[in-house]
Amino acid sequence: MALPSAFLDELRARTPLAPLIGRRTKLERAGRQWKACCPFHGEKTPSFYIYEDHYHCFGCGAHGDAISFVMQSDGAGFMEAIERLAGEAGLEVPKLSPAVAEAERRRHTLAGALEMAAAAYQRRLFLPEGRAALDYLLGRGLSEATIRRFGLGWSGEGRGALVSELGREGIDPDLLIEAGLLRADDPPARGGEFFFNRVMFPIRDRRGGVISFGGRTLGDGKPKYLNGPETPLFAKRRNLYALDLARAALRGAGASDPKGAHRAATPEVVVVEGYMDAIALHQAGFGGAVAPLGTALTEEHLAELWRLSPAPILCFDGDAAGARACARAAELALPLLAPDRSLRFAALPPGEDPDTLVLRHGPAAFQAVLAAARPFVDVLFDQQADPGPSATPEQRQGFRRRLLAAAERVADRGLAAEYRQALLDRLYAARGARMRPTPGGERGGPRPRFGGGSGGRPTWQPPGRTPPRPVPSDAVATAERMRILLAILLRHPELWADVGPALAGLDLPPTLGAVRAALADWADQAELLDSRGVMDHLTASGLAAEAARILATTPVPLPGCASPSAMPGEAEAGWWHIFGLMHRDRLEAEVAAANREFARLTDDATQRRLIALCTARDALCRGEQGETET
Ligand code: UTP
Ligand code: MN
Repeated sequence: MALPSAFLDELRARTPLAPLIGRRTKLERAGRQWKACCPFHGEKTPSFYIYEDHYHCFGCGAHGDAISFVMQSDGAGFMEAIERLAGEAGLEVPKLSPAVAEAERRRHTLAGALEMAAAAYQRRLFLPEGRAALDYLLGRGLSEATIRRFGLGWSGEGRGALVSELGREGIDPDLLIEAGLLRADDPPARGGEFFFNRVMFPIRDRRGGVISFGGRTLGDGKPKYLNGPETPLFAKRRNLYALDLARAALRGAGASDPKGAHRAATPEVVVVEGYMDAIALHQAGFGGAVAPLGTALTEEHLAELWRLSPAPILCFDGDAAGARACARAAELALPLLAPDRSLRFAALPPGEDPDTLVLRHGPAAFQAVLAAARPFVDVLFDQQADPGPSATPEQRQGFRRRLLAAAERVADRGLAAEYRQALLDRLYAARGARMRPTPGGERGGPRPRFGGGSGGRPTWQPPGRTPPRPVPSDAVATAERMRILLAILLRHPELWADVGPALAGLDLPPTLGAVRAALADWADQAELLDSRGVMDHLTASGLAAEAARILATTPVPLPGCASPSAMPGEAEAGWWHIFGLMHRDRLEAEVAAANREFARLTDDATQRRLIALCTARDALCRGEQGETET
């Protein structure tokens, strides 16, 4: 909005940053500046610095001035932030020019008409005439609370109803034309409603004001969805469905309660394809879900998403069309990437959309899809078409050029250099992996996918360099980790089917090897894989002392995941975490294999396995960034 820049300068000058930010987070002196724990991402040691006229977080990249601080921390819009700060600074916001003010007034009345239409549609849904539509929505698994929260409605059966209803409330048909509810070419007297015989989905802007509608047929009529036309308030390329609710969910999660005791985890910002997907995900607890409105993602959408998260997850169908949409989005975002502006990509199992996935397999299934989201660099690498192991030198050079050209397109120079490095690293890693036998134990895992999660680091060794010989303390740590892996299995032998093959690939010391062999014999014939059964078998095999040594809690206590009371998922994730501390590459291979398996087979066991593996990998990534393990 056109505010004089002199006013904005004055406002910034009169709003010192430290006291403003100090209301949100505790400040500490850092020389002439201040530093603090970043209010935008959870951290225990300060990496958020406050300078004369801007702030910068070296942890998450948050950056800006007083106005953007209010926008980011309170989720305020630009004008909202200006008004709030001006009020505090004792400044008057200059009046807008007459033309702008007139546009503003029309927007308000337009907005008013749209609100009234939304209320009318919603009212109808709960009248007898809306019964079929209500049953349809309930039949698709939406609760009444969800239906009300999203303001879903029923348009009415034929044309004419809305015009006369809103006409009685003093709304001019011209306004309804401008609002995109009435067709301009149809004489309004005849009732030229855009929407009839449709379930109505109000589209709201980021502050929650209704700006348009989508309408779905109840049956198989075409088109299935109709979206309102472009209007002064509504542009498909700018708006995202459910953005208002996602913003609220993210803000709610960011704020701690008065005692600061509990902080809800910040929901992931996830972009899905359709209205129903976004709604089903919100209902299933994924409060950061949004959807574009029947268009491909635009730069404006990305800008909006990056205001909420430095790396939103784009969720695509697991088919060829999904892969194409994924490639288009990566293409669009590539030049715009920055340290605080990236994307992650998640693929759905073929034949499912988020709505059906959550409906049939529960929220954990979608959680698994998110946990397996891949970082931008991985997707970019895969999109440059690796010519494969039998490529000619010319083809290899072509591939290398494509990778460098892709990195070159990142406008942020520093980041472009990082991309160049990371893509070449992957290139060498892929060639190295082809020359060496594939890791991954008896599961015969595929070539590992590197990185993953946030801050994932490649785990391979550059070709030609042998890993350093472990120093003795490493050997001790490795022996202890192997012991813990067996301890978890003695307490939770039901994990055998999932982790046994990986365990088989470990080079255990003889005593632990004997326990592993006995465990394998027992698991082959036992009817019930329970802890008591395996302990009895070890005793009968003369390995009672070994078992006791494995389960000993002195001098070092066992981790929580080895406790008999650990939940199976916790025990399994803990197992993979410790395994990954020894063999990161094998863990990555397991994650990749589980991903593919999950794409083929969406059953509970596959899902549990993928979640455990991804949890372990995330924990490893966090560990690498300096937090404590397990
Ligand atoms: P889909 O065809 O994938 O439908 O369209 P869906 O979201 O799974 O719908 P349900 O589950 O059958 O109700 C995805 C999105 O594409 C746009 C809409 O925004 C829809 O949500 N679309 C689809 C249209 O704009 N017009 C159409 O005719 C179909
Ligand atoms: Mn659907």
